[in-house]
Amino acid sequence: MSEAVTLKIELPKIPDIELVAIEGLERLSRHLDIAEDKVGEARLLVTEAIINGFEHGGTKNPTVIVEFTMTTKELIIFVRDHGKGFDPSIIEEPDVRKKIHAKDKRGWGIKVMKSMSDDFRIESNSGGTKITIKKLLK
Ligand SMILES: Nc1ncnc2c1ncn2[C@@H]1O[C@H](COP(=O)(O)OP(=O)(O)OP(=O)(O)O)[C@@H](O)[C@H]1O
Ligand SMILES: [Mg+2]
Repeated sequence: MSEAVTLKIELPKIPDIELVAIEGLERLSRHLDIAEDKVGEARLLVTEAIINGFEHGGTKNPTVIVEFTMTTKELIIFVRDHGKGFDPSIIEEPDVRKKIHAKDKRGWGIKVMKSMSDDFRIESNSGGTKITIKKLLK
């Protein structure tokens, strides 16, 4: 097995900055010759996690730190913000039958991330939120 490659980036809050992280992810994937379908899913995971960090994260220190650790077998995505945090246990699971009539159609990010990952963890407190996602690449 090839050695793990790690990339760590601190993103400032400016429009479309998640694309910088995606570019990094794609470079690592090319280097390790990862299948395109896995890269596509990883791209979605990374985008949702970063956007949550900026949207629901802090205004005091609105930066998001992203870290990828990739081998040919798996990818660990770590995303942290410095927001006020939240209690994931009280977030209601979205239900498509209810959402279709609801005014607020959002609230899918966490569900999508859970369904696409092989392990999904949230650690959150008043100092911010850390998301750790494992994605198998084979
Ligand atoms: N990093 C975070 N910091 C604080 N709260 C968060 C964070 N990530 C998620 N949340 C909370 O969890 C809720 C659900 O997140 P989720 O990504 O599923 O939906 P959303 O961001 O509201 O909408 P969507 O992702 O569908 O555009 C958010 O509305 C927010 O209250
Ligand atoms: Mg979201």
